[in-house]
Amino acid sequence: MNKTVNTIGVLTSGGDAPGMNAAIRGVVRTAIAKGKKVMGIKKGYNGLIHGDIFEMQSRNVSDIIQRGGTMLYTARCEEFLKPEGQKRGADMCGVYGIDGLVIIGGDGSFQGAEKLSNLGINTIGIPGTIDLDIACTDYTIGFDTAVNTAMEAIDKIKDTSTSHERCSVVEVMGRNAGFIALWCGIVNGAEVILLPEEENPTEDEIIRDILENRKKGKRHNLIVVAEGIGGSQELAKRIETVTGIQARATVLGHLQRGGSPTAIDRMHGSMMGAYAVDLLCNGKSNRVVAYKDGKYVDYGIDEALKMQKRVNPSRIEVSRLLAK
Ligand code: ADP
Ligand code: F6P
Repeated sequence: MNKTVNTIGVLTSGGDAPGMNAAIRGVVRTAIAKGKKVMGIKKGYNGLIHGDIFEMQSRNVSDIIQRGGTMLYTARCEEFLKPEGQKRGADMCGVYGIDGLVIIGGDGSFQGAEKLSNLGINTIGIPGTIDLDIACTDYTIGFDTAVNTAMEAIDKIKDTSTSHERCSVVEVMGRNAGFIALWCGIVNGAEVILLPEEENPTEDEIIRDILENRKKGKRHNLIVVAEGIGGSQELAKRIETVTGIQARATVLGHLQRGGSPTAIDRMHGSMMGAYAVDLLCNGKSNRVVAYKDGKYVDYGIDEALKMQKRVNPSRIEVSRLLAK
């Protein structure tokens, strides 16, 4: 028989992502509308283990939908990787009467959710990461805002790069995934995009490409490098040494994680938050909310974690055509 959930906890875990606040708001208000009690847990699994927990009302989530970051704070928690830490987390749920838990984060956080589910707490994951690297879903909360932030930053770099007729090497986030890099590469009009998932051109090939493009009349060059490839400073130095063309590297870094979420992130955050509560109210546990082919669906965490995701090959092909 499905377990009835009366008190729903919500936490954000791993790297923050714009739109997490919309998801928290979605959880809190849907749960209250369905007559449930809601507990906010601060600082991810850290706050769960240490009882950093408070009751949330509708007004606690007023005026947050437009804010970047997460009002519940977030953390990575070493202790929760061990069975004793997970047991402490489950026990603390008991202390606060939490029988259902929504975890907003990435694959790592979902592994934690699975452990809690095995310990008797009904858990639902919501995909929140700028990296888009969760295989079961076409969308992860934060990606659109991060790409738009990076795009605007690279537009600015391009302005100065053109004035000085330089080569710009720009490194974007994404951990081991190249989704942000591929999107920026296309939307910023990069000549070269270096992705962790693909076979990339060698440094010599990149240099030949820069020289060929200059002969064709290009006044600047843009190379977008995924964090998973790295080495952007060294690449810029080599380009400058070999070609005599001034090259500058910029690592965009954490600015990509902040800022007011776009409409897309607010929408998915709100819808996924509401969907997660529906799952808990229907007695479901150990599931991840996903956006697939235009619909909100859910998968077992175990199944979701086994799935694989590739960068879209047709986007890579088009990016190369458009770079000429
Ligand atoms: P993300 O959720 O963005 O992938 P992390 O991989 O850093 O971020 O995971 C966030 C937190 O989730 C970790 O600090 C840890 O507390 C918890 N976690 C990660 N992997 C596991 C695991 N295998 N078992 C239990 N908890 C985990
Ligand atoms: O997962 C989001 C992300 O921003 C990655 O793109 C990046 O590799 C990592 O987190 C950075 O983590 P931290 O904020 O701990 O430096």
